[in-house]
Amino acid sequence: MADLSTELCGIKLNNPLILASGIMGVTASSLANVVKNGAGAVTIKSIGPEERKGHPCPVITTWEAGMMNAVGLSNAGIDRGIEEIKKFKEMCDAPIIGSVFAFKQSLFGELTEKISTVNPDLIEINISCPNVESEAGTPFALDAKAAYSVTKHVKEKTKIPVIVKLSPNSLNIKEIAKECEKAGADAINMGNTLGPGLLINIETAKPILANKFGGISGPAIKPIALKRVWDVYEAVKIPIIGTGGVTNGRDAVEMLMAGATAVGLGTAVYSRGIDVFNKINDEIKGFMKKNNYKSIKEMIGKAHV
Ligand SMILES: Cc1cc2nc3c(=O)[nH]c(=O)nc-3n(C[C@H](O)[C@H](O)[C@H](O)COP(=O)(O)O)c2cc1C
Repeated sequence: MADLSTELCGIKLNNPLILASGIMGVTASSLANVVKNGAGAVTIKSIGPEERKGHPCPVITTWEAGMMNAVGLSNAGIDRGIEEIKKFKEMCDAPIIGSVFAFKQSLFGELTEKISTVNPDLIEINISCPNVESEAGTPFALDAKAAYSVTKHVKEKTKIPVIVKLSPNSLNIKEIAKECEKAGADAINMGNTLGPGLLINIETAKPILANKFGGISGPAIKPIALKRVWDVYEAVKIPIIGTGGVTNGRDAVEMLMAGATAVGLGTAVYSRGIDVFNKINDEIKGFMKKNNYKSIKEMIGKAHV
């Protein structure tokens, strides 16, 4: 029997597939539904200090190779987010990751303190959203010093393990990941959407998204995400969630072999449906059986050896 379980910062996951932040992660019931469909853990949509409308519609578009979004971090605010985590924990045993975003370091600290009161299994700090740069300035994730500083600050505010979500845009990802580890990060999520990018409606001769530009996800970014995971694996000892362009079991195995301990799924939920978790777990199992792998652990980092 293939053992699909894995462990992230001492938290056991029945399988390596984690619902990425921003996809079906607003309410407890939709998160529980994702677990029913086979996710090993779920991440809530990133929450900020207060309710935020985000960018005007259309905020999402697709093309042959993936998806582009400029949702703009719309969310109901920390108090509602906390309520949903509480409800989820009453409904479901699967691990839940609380995701927070802010435009200031001190606010990351405050949000972390607040979210810790309802004990999510892990806390993810989203320091890498590419489509709010006009408001937020350069994301913390693109600057090694800023990434160190915000991680250190957040770690002082909680006892819950902290995942730092980095950006595939970083060309010096090894340096940035090392700084996060030095500051006390317990894991790295590698990573967010790539971009921003642009798609144009040639009939109207206008950008498709109202925000014009958006973060790119799905199959188009997989080789870049894999390379970043590879580099981070070589740079740090803490575990990595490999996120970006995973659509099927083969992609997930590639992420593991590049060095990921668990695998994030976002766009694939749209392209293959909510039961994509069960489907990909079956595909991983099929691969393991055919190639004589007994456990996920045997595949982590395998391509480096
Ligand atoms: C519609 C949409 C909304 C997203 N919202 C968030 C968010 O709120 N916080 C966050 O950290 N990442 C967010 N992301 C990024 C995803 O969590 C993920 O990192 C990215 O899409 C790459 O993975 P994928 O190729 O599997 O989709 C969002 C992505 C999409 C497509």
